[in-house]
Amino acid sequence: MDKLRISGGRPLEGEIAVSGAKNAALPIMCAALLTDKPLALSNVPRLMDIATMAKLLGQMGVEIERPSQSHFSLNAKTIKDPTAPYELVKTMRASVLVLGPLLARCGRAKVSLPGGCAIGQRPVDQHVKGLQAMGAAISIEHGYMHAAAERLRGARILMDMVTVTGTENLMMAAALAEGTTLLENAAREPEVVDLASCLIAMGAKIEGAGSDVIRIEGVRSLGGATHAVMPDRIEAGTYLAATAAAGGRVRLTHAAPDTLDASIDKLREAGALVRKGAGFVDIEMAGRPRPVSVRTAPYPGFPTDMQAQFMALATIAGGTALITETIFENRFMHALELQRLGADISISGNTAIVRGVERLQGATVMATDLRASAGLVIAGLVAEGQTLIERIYHLDRGYEALEKKLGALGARIERIK
Ligand code: EPU
Repeated sequence: MDKLRISGGRPLEGEIAVSGAKNAALPIMCAALLTDKPLALSNVPRLMDIATMAKLLGQMGVEIERPSQSHFSLNAKTIKDPTAPYELVKTMRASVLVLGPLLARCGRAKVSLPGGCAIGQRPVDQHVKGLQAMGAAISIEHGYMHAAAERLRGARILMDMVTVTGTENLMMAAALAEGTTLLENAAREPEVVDLASCLIAMGAKIEGAGSDVIRIEGVRSLGGATHAVMPDRIEAGTYLAATAAAGGRVRLTHAAPDTLDASIDKLREAGALVRKGAGFVDIEMAGRPRPVSVRTAPYPGFPTDMQAQFMALATIAGGTALITETIFENRFMHALELQRLGADISISGNTAIVRGVERLQGATVMATDLRASAGLVIAGLVAEGQTLIERIYHLDRGYEALEKKLGALGARIERIK
C-alpha cells in the first residue's frame, strides 16, 4: 500500500489551482439518474470517490464518457438495475445519494445501508423519513433499504438536524415529484447550491437553495444540461491551513473565495495575511501561528471537514486552542496520531485542548479518514525530520494530486509505492 514521505521544515511558496469539489461532484453525478438525456459535467476532480461513483452508476446502466480527465458525460437513457450494492456503499457513504433520484425516476430502489464509519455512526434516518413523507414505502431487509413509490408527492419536510446529503437526496427526489416540496432546516452548504443550479439547468423548479428553506415544485421530466462543478472549498482551505502552519506565500487559483469565509477568518486570527480576489486567494504567513479555537457547525459555520487541519495548525501555535467538534461524535482520531508527532493534546468530551509546542518531530503515523489524513500531512510539513504517513488511500479519495500540488509549492513530499 502507498505511503507518503514528508521531510518537514520548508515554507510553501508559489501558485496552485484548486480542483472541482468532490462533495458537489458526487451528488451532481447522481442527478444524471433523473433524466434520460445526457448531463455533461466539467471541472470534475480526479479522485477515487469519483471513480467509485462512476462505477456505481455504470453498474445501473448509466453510459459514461470521459472526453478528458475533468469532463464527464453521463447518460441514464435506461436504468437497468436501481440497486446500490453493499460492496460499493461500504467504501463510499455518498453512494446513498442514488436513493432519491432512483426512486423518483424508476419508482423503486434498493440501496445498502451504509453502516458506521470511522468518524461516527452517520445514520440515514432523515433521508428515509423525508422520502416516506413524500409517499414512499421503505422497508429495511437484510441490510438493504427497499424503497417503492408510484410517483412521489410533494410534502413539507422538517429535518431534525442539518444534513448535507439528506438535503441533496430529498431535493433530487422532489424535483420529479408531483406538487410542491418544502425542505425546512435544509443544509445551506455551497455544494447544495451547486447541485440546485445543475438541477435548475436540467429544468427543475427550485427556490431557496443556500437558505434553510428550499422550495421545489416537481416537474414531469428533466432534460440534459451542461454544468461546471464548483471549486473545492475544503481542498482550498486545506492548502491555506498548510501555508499558515508551514509559513510562506501561496496563491490559490480557480477558487471560490466566498465559500471560504469561516476558514479565512480563523487563519487571519492565527496571524496570516489573506487576500481574496476574483477566483483567487492569496495567503502569506511569517512566524509562529497564534492559537485559534474553532467550533464546527453547519455552513456558514466552521466546517467539520476543516477541523483536523486546524488541529494540526494549533499543535505548533504559541498558546492553547480549543477544538470543538459538534457534527460527528468520533472525529478526533487524528489527535492520537498528532501526539505521535509530539503534539500536546488532551480530549475532554467533544473538545480537544491543544497546547502549542515549539516543534513537532517526524514519525510514522497512520491516516484514519480523509480529513484526518490532511491534518497529518500539515503536521508532517512542519515537523522536524521525516514523517511517514501510512494508509494514504484515504487521501486519494478526496485530494487530487496532493503530493504534486504540495511539491509544486516547494514541499519535500513523495509517494512511496
Ligand atoms: N445525520 C443523522 N441522520 C441522517 C443524516 C445525518 O443523524 O439521516 C447526522 C450525522 O450522523 C451527522 C450529522 O447529521 O452527525 C451531519 O451529517 P450530514 O448528513 O450532514 O453528513 P453527510 O451528508 O453524510 C457530508 C459530507 C461530509 C461532511 C458532512 C458535514 C458529502 C458527500 N459528505 O456528509 O464530507 O463532513 O456533510 O459537512 O457531502 C468529507 O468530505 O471528508 C466528508 C466526510
